[in-house]
Amino acid sequence: MEKPLLLYIFIFYWHFLNALFTVEAPQSLYIVEHGNNVTMECTFPVNGKLKFRDLSVSWEKKDKLKKQIYVLVKGEEDFKSQHSDFKGRIKLLKEKLTLGRSLLHISDVRLMDAGVYRCVIDYGGADYKMINLQVQAPYRNITQGVVSTGDNKWKLTCQSEGYPQAKVIWQNREHEDLSDKANTSYETGSDQLYRVTSTLTIKSRTDEIFHCIFWNKELQENTSAILHIADAADDALWTESRRFIGAILIVTASFGSVLLFMLCMRKARAIKDNRATVASSSIAKLSKNKDTHDCRGASFEDEELKYMQIEKT
Ligand SMILES: *[C@@H]1O[C@H](CO)[C@@H](O)[C@H](O)[C@H]1NC(C)=O
Ligand SMILES: *[C@@H]1O[C@H](CO)[C@@H](O)[C@H](O)[C@H]1NC(C)=O
Ligand SMILES: *[C@@H]1O[C@H](CO)[C@@H](O)[C@H](O)[C@H]1NC(C)=O
Repeated sequence: MEKPLLLYIFIFYWHFLNALFTVEAPQSLYIVEHGNNVTMECTFPVNGKLKFRDLSVSWEKKDKLKKQIYVLVKGEEDFKSQHSDFKGRIKLLKEKLTLGRSLLHISDVRLMDAGVYRCVIDYGGADYKMINLQVQAPYRNITQGVVSTGDNKWKLTCQSEGYPQAKVIWQNREHEDLSDKANTSYETGSDQLYRVTSTLTIKSRTDEIFHCIFWNKELQENTSAILHIADAADDALWTESRRFIGAILIVTASFGSVLLFMLCMRKARAIKDNRATVASSSIAKLSKNKDTHDCRGASFEDEELKYMQIEKT
């Protein structure tokens, strides 16, 4: 505790007396999305080759209690004082120090990382700059559900996570507001995120669409999902009935071909018998011609039916 205090007295002393040494923050505000990475930057003057032994760098966060994030004293990194909030998520790009750039990389940014950061450099002279970090958590991924409760009634659900609290607005195809028919609940989950679940109970015919809109007032952002009352149930019914008709067709076709086959056999036998008894009869000749024609026709039909079967299955 004593060492940083001394460092501060030293820093302030230099800040006022050594105007030559100034730390700059090229960007004083960073806006980053929850879960992403951010690299914040300070620059300082380096004349010629950097002497690591003369360099001290630190990054800290100004919360109620100051949180140490990164410390390099006289060229040596010191992780002992690093606050547990940042464990495993911090990297200082040391190779950039030689160019006079102190780059702090924070990975997997959390909502609680939002706040004011101080970047301190001591290299001959000493100075610091403040940098602001804003963390956003848009309601990006919306999980939706459509459940039929019978009697043309539907329960539509939209769920998403984000920050700050979003209002959920429901609309129909014509964008009429249905929000008063909906119920929205808020749970706080990990890392201050809100898990928002909204349920709309509504009477509707099928093939209708509804919109759920997550209105993040503070971020001035709307994200939405389209729910389609289509016919998951109807679809199944339709497929079912199509299958049923297909089955009937196949059964009829098979039964038909068997019947035709039997008929042909019988007729062929009859012709044989006829030929045996009245070989020279013109009637028999006529009937024979007719029969072969019929049977050829039948077998052709048979093939057609088989083709239909293949198509159906
Ligand atoms: C964030 O940083 C971590 C650690 O440095 C890295 O593994 C990861 O790929 C980075 N993610 C993105 C999206 O850049
Ligand atoms: C919302 O939920 C509460 C409790 O579950 C219930 O009493 C109320 O009727 C619901 N409101 C609407 C509009 O569905
Ligand atoms: C978001 O949607 C609400 C309700 O439809 C609307 O009042 C608001 O202006 C929209 N905001 C933006 C930024 O689109």
